[in-house]
Amino acid sequence: MSFLAPNKDKKPVEEPAGDVVGGARLLPRITIQAFCEHSQTAELVEAAVHDRRMSKVALTTHNGGLDGAIESYKSNPTPNLIIVETSLPVEDIPAALDRLAEVCDASTRLIVLGHINDVLLYRELIRSGVSEYLVLPTTALSIVNAIADLFAAEGAAPIGRTVGFISAKGGAGSSTVSHNVAWAISQNLRQDVLILDLDLPFGTAGLNFNQDPPHGIADAVTASAKVDSTMLDRLMSKAANHINLLTAPAMLDKTFDFGERDFEQIVELSQKTTPVVILDIPHTWTSWVRHTLATIDEIVIVAEPDLANLRNAKNLSDSIKALRPNESQPMLVVNKVGVPKRPEISPQEFATSVECQLIGQIAFDAATFGTAANNGQMLAEVAANNRINDIFRAIGMQVTGRSVPEAAGKSGNLKLPSFLKLKKA
Ligand SMILES: Nc1ncnc2c1ncn2[C@@H]1O[C@H](COP(=O)(O)OP(=O)(O)OP(=O)(O)O)[C@@H](O)[C@H]1O
Ligand SMILES: [Mg+2]
Repeated sequence: MSFLAPNKDKKPVEEPAGDVVGGARLLPRITIQAFCEHSQTAELVEAAVHDRRMSKVALTTHNGGLDGAIESYKSNPTPNLIIVETSLPVEDIPAALDRLAEVCDASTRLIVLGHINDVLLYRELIRSGVSEYLVLPTTALSIVNAIADLFAAEGAAPIGRTVGFISAKGGAGSSTVSHNVAWAISQNLRQDVLILDLDLPFGTAGLNFNQDPPHGIADAVTASAKVDSTMLDRLMSKAANHINLLTAPAMLDKTFDFGERDFEQIVELSQKTTPVVILDIPHTWTSWVRHTLATIDEIVIVAEPDLANLRNAKNLSDSIKALRPNESQPMLVVNKVGVPKRPEISPQEFATSVECQLIGQIAFDAATFGTAANNGQMLAEVAANNRINDIFRAIGMQVTGRSVPEAAGKSGNLKLPSFLKLKKA
């Protein structure tokens, strides 16, 4: 067996718990794009999707090899994993990968399919951060094993980024903003997004996406220790391409009193299976809300530009910073700016007072938001050309760590992708 194909013929990982089917750990809902030079390689990569571990993966194949990938990612967002075939001479490969790195997001992983069985090249690529180098001809099984080693091995870092939205005052719009930002991420970054509606008695995710499933987050939280990824999958409803929901029951037949850690497992499981997890957090201050805020990756406070919102946003921001001194700071969206005749605090002044980074200001627009809410649609669906969609997109870029403004283009991306970071350090 060649050293350059270390994963060849490796058996699927046996795992007793979690997202496991028939002894094989399922890969999370990642997006993979393969750029091949030869049609046989494209067929080989396509054959990989028939492996049962790949059932949730969205894989597309394209022509053009490394150059094709570089050209494509100058104007398109990068997926979770790029597979690229190259038949360049050994000495040209690192420089070509450098050019690819310049147009890739930092979190994107890379597997290279090459035609040269050269141990020095292999070592250099792995040292530079390439996740795997497989020598062609190889098998679909080797490709799946390499992907599984990256994303589904025991101890693999959770792939999901958790982003919570909470309003400074009830009705400020955190649910509406979170759903539309989730939509923007799913459509623009083409990453899978899961929305957790944590407002069990009154949540609106189901309404806003026109979904009325029988189950949802309530069943997951009541199952507590028994909940696993298979159960979450069953409880999810697919709102659109790349977007899933765990909806709230929105019924008042019982009260919802949760313990501090009751949502912990659901959040952790979601994070293992979906690249972006949006938490729609209700406007309450309970032990579980505080604990959830302490543990997620990013927090967005949504506020209207008035005094009560200002006071609450400042209290929220201070408490969140104290809860998580070493984590990222909360960010601010000022919503419903310009309600006719209402005296307002300017969004910039508001942000300065609450000491949060202002990542978006959204105009009050009763007609558009009202139509979207009544139709159970997103803003982008009822008003595709409205510039509010650009704001949702920008917030989505910011909370997923892709803060490059659209106008700056990919060349403005200062972050080095993981597959070259080590080399440049
Ligand atoms: N920019 C806006 N212009 C006009 N209406 C808006 C705007 N943003 C939100 N709304 C409307 O405000 C109402 C309340 O929004 P939403 O349910 O998102 O609030 P919330 O902050 O989630 O409330 P809570 O914190 O109590 O859950 C909805 O009817 C929504 O359509
Ligand atoms: Mg809400």
